[in-house]
Amino acid sequence: MSPATAVKSALDHIDLADPQVFTDPDHHRIFRYLRDHAPLHWNPEGSEPGFWSVTRYEDCLAVQKDGVTFSSAGTNTLGAQRWTGDEGSGRMLTHVDGPRHTELRQIVNRAFTPRAIGRLEPYIRSVVVESLDEALEAGEVDFVDTVALLPVASIAALLGIPKEDWRLLLNLTTAAFGSADQDVQLSPSARAAAAAAHAQLLLYCQDLMDQRRIAPRDDIVTRLVEAQRTGKLTEEDAMLFFDLLLLGGNETTRHGAVGALLALMDHPDQWRRLRADRGLLNPAVGEVLRYVSPSKHVLRRAERDVELHGQTVRAGQEVAIWHFSANRDGRAFADPDVFDVGRVSDVPHLALGSGPHYCIGAALASLELRLFLDELCDRVGSAELLEPPVRLASTVIGGFKRARVSLRPV
Ligand code: HEM
Repeated sequence: MSPATAVKSALDHIDLADPQVFTDPDHHRIFRYLRDHAPLHWNPEGSEPGFWSVTRYEDCLAVQKDGVTFSSAGTNTLGAQRWTGDEGSGRMLTHVDGPRHTELRQIVNRAFTPRAIGRLEPYIRSVVVESLDEALEAGEVDFVDTVALLPVASIAALLGIPKEDWRLLLNLTTAAFGSADQDVQLSPSARAAAAAAHAQLLLYCQDLMDQRRIAPRDDIVTRLVEAQRTGKLTEEDAMLFFDLLLLGGNETTRHGAVGALLALMDHPDQWRRLRADRGLLNPAVGEVLRYVSPSKHVLRRAERDVELHGQTVRAGQEVAIWHFSANRDGRAFADPDVFDVGRVSDVPHLALGSGPHYCIGAALASLELRLFLDELCDRVGSAELLEPPVRLASTVIGGFKRARVSLRPV
């Protein structure tokens, strides 16, 4: 059997909604096959209702940009909520279209401009330095833990949460939302602890909003309070927004940083190059996002029948947009499987999405990763794997459950 035939026959039995598919380091092979031979692929009902997949760069870009034909108003990822209903549907920023989406985005937009984000640099750098120094002192660490505080503290600073509460927030966020990993999510004890931590998190949010009602500040929580006063948000919507902001940039950025270290370890020449020339930090951040692609996919629902690659996506059917596959598409990127910190590309990567729902935290994520790479080059001389890293069982987040490494200082 030729390799292509073997992959095709295996594909007939692969359920792309099964998170275990992504624990295989070789899962890129499946998506390479899809891009080349089945660019619009129907995944029949299995663990979830059936759905289409687009895997090529230009299709992912086109579907994501066309928010009129492809709606976000149902649910925006694969997962159990496709059976049970999604509480964010039609309410949360990520789950609405058109004018309501614009209205919601405008509530927080100004807090996310590169200028506003730039003001957080000293805080974020101090968290990176503290995390790396602690890890270097320990010598052997699980790097997934090492970088856990970075995204939570960065979002907390933006939300207006005082520094003394950052660790509390990390603990509550970790317990409430846990990990994207399917094995962790399925444990009943983890689910009970998650519900309790989430309740505590919402009480914390409510308390913070009460404080800002009395004494407004220049922060996101104050904006959420103001939007309630003007009738744009209910209190419950404001809390959903708080949740979304904490969640949206948490595991994505964390696994971006873990993936960055692993990519640099795999490509010591690229690490040396970056260490010697920090002018490459910005392209390196873009390359980390493209190569690692911490967000694997998003989901859209067709509002009308659409013809694509000789097949019809029917109105009401859902389409998974696999960013991580688009980012490895040789039609868009030269040598797509090569990690090149100085990559010059004609097209932008899709790791942060595209179109109306383009990642609102893009500037924040980029700053976090830039400071992380900068301090990593300054502080960590070399790193070695203590065991093979274990991939997350997740269709949503591309990352690692465990990445145990030993680190040596410069
Ligand atoms: C490496 C880090 C990150 C990655 C890979 C990432 C990826 C993405 C992607 C792919 C989308 C598009 C979702 C869609 O089209 O349905 C998105 C949207 C979003 N991201 Fe990020 N993100 C990252 C960091 C952040 C950060 C730091 C925040 C800060 C709070 C954030 C908050 C959001 C929000 C609120 C949205 C929804 C925007 C909308 O629906 O209009 N993200 N992100």
